[in-house]
Amino acid sequence: ATISVMDQKTVRPPHVLIFPLPLQGPVNSTIKLAELLCLSGLHITLLLTDHIHTKLLKYSNIQSRFSSYPGFHLETIPDGLPEDHPRSIDRFIEVLESLKTKSSILFKDLMTTDSRRPVTCIIADGTMGFTCDVANEIGIPIMYIRTISACCLWVFFCFPNLIESRELPFSGNDLDTPIKSIPGMEEFLRRRDLPLFCRFNLSDPNIKTYLSEGTENPRAHGLILNTFDDLEGPIVSQIRTFCPNLYTIGPLHAHLKLNLESFSSSPPSSNSLWKEDMSCIPWLDSQPSKSVLYVSFGSLAVMSKELWYGLVNSGSRFLWVIRRHSVLSEIIETPPELSKGTEERGCIVEWAPQEKVLAHGGVGGFLTHSGWNATLESVVEGVPMICWPYFLDQQVNSRFVGEVWKLGLDMKDTCDRVIVEKMVRELMEERKEEFRKSADEMAKLAKQCFMVGGSSYCNLQRLINDIKAM
Ligand code: UDX
Repeated sequence: ATISVMDQKTVRPPHVLIFPLPLQGPVNSTIKLAELLCLSGLHITLLLTDHIHTKLLKYSNIQSRFSSYPGFHLETIPDGLPEDHPRSIDRFIEVLESLKTKSSILFKDLMTTDSRRPVTCIIADGTMGFTCDVANEIGIPIMYIRTISACCLWVFFCFPNLIESRELPFSGNDLDTPIKSIPGMEEFLRRRDLPLFCRFNLSDPNIKTYLSEGTENPRAHGLILNTFDDLEGPIVSQIRTFCPNLYTIGPLHAHLKLNLESFSSSPPSSNSLWKEDMSCIPWLDSQPSKSVLYVSFGSLAVMSKELWYGLVNSGSRFLWVIRRHSVLSEIIETPPELSKGTEERGCIVEWAPQEKVLAHGGVGGFLTHSGWNATLESVVEGVPMICWPYFLDQQVNSRFVGEVWKLGLDMKDTCDRVIVEKMVRELMEERKEEFRKSADEMAKLAKQCFMVGGSSYCNLQRLINDIKAM
């Protein structure tokens, strides 16, 4: 029996198929996991939707990046939607539905047709539950990856509690009402800190999707989270009551960067779906140390004119990412009263090399939509934040940034020019020492967790060993 097991192992080297959720944030962090696993010698097939693949080929160096890994292979799959579908976040449910109904057969075929390189483990985004159905059907072990924060994932897990305790749905405008039925968050969570869609109605398809998290995620062999124990340990312990086999291996971008350095390899690819404008780096070089507020709302958020007024009126220097279509159309033109301040102190780009920007010595603060990647990137570089969350996990993340981790200010729901100006002054001037101190401390912890013996380091080794044993 021993020989036959060994035979099997020689015939079937560990081969992981990785399938990220087709959105910028998840694609970015999941590809970083793929590269970390490549570095450990595992064979990897990265599966992307055609739509994401086309964009990545255009704007990132993914192809050349992975060419040095002999066991790496890229596969694509259609998402089943017409080419002109916007795939915007308000219609993302359609992307998920289409993947499930139209692409799951192709997904299954991928793993059953090539017998020369059989897949020994699947890592798929836990939002795509159909991958687990397929994996079970063909008998391949599956792990889920979730690229949102553990704190938001735990809120999703607790939706049934919220409904049972009648904290959801809520009516009326008292958004400051405390939320009591999420273990570990009783002291500080309010209605306004729940994902935005909770304010509307419970028949929202988003709610339906997330209501099943507590039963969906534990179906997989294990759950991989892009976080680290010093940041979200208490909440991770709560999730462990549902999913005992948890791997907290983040922050993935920094974990990968460190591992690449130890191989003297070039830095990771940006995995950007838009063209990065590098001109902001020389601009940053010419600014005083920690004087610039970096302003960016990720790939999906939209925002308003009040913000611009607040920024300029604060007198701060700023580097602002204005992604096409992200500003309400009425303000595509610079309002004349803002042009002087913008020209004197501002730099505007369509898409920035964000990790480089946050690591730059000229940056002293980050006005962010609190996307999970953005938050982790800021945490690692010790940059204090002002949070202007837009939707989903961002409302929860920003509450943790402001109230739990004390890494900045949570501006949610109050974005008028006076508030923006006040908060920018607070972060960049009046309370800058206090915020920098806590951001520096957390950055140190973030950097230690993937050093030899750190929590994310050990968890990654465990993940690799578990995959090899499959
Ligand atoms: C959103 C959610 O906020 C996120 O938490 C969820 O997991 C998926 O949907 P997104 O809006 O894309 O994601 O934000 P974020 O998670 O912050 O990811 C954006 C990525 O784009 C970051 O890695 C960031 O470095 C990169 N980026 C952003 C750039 O490279 N350049 C920019 O100008 C802006």
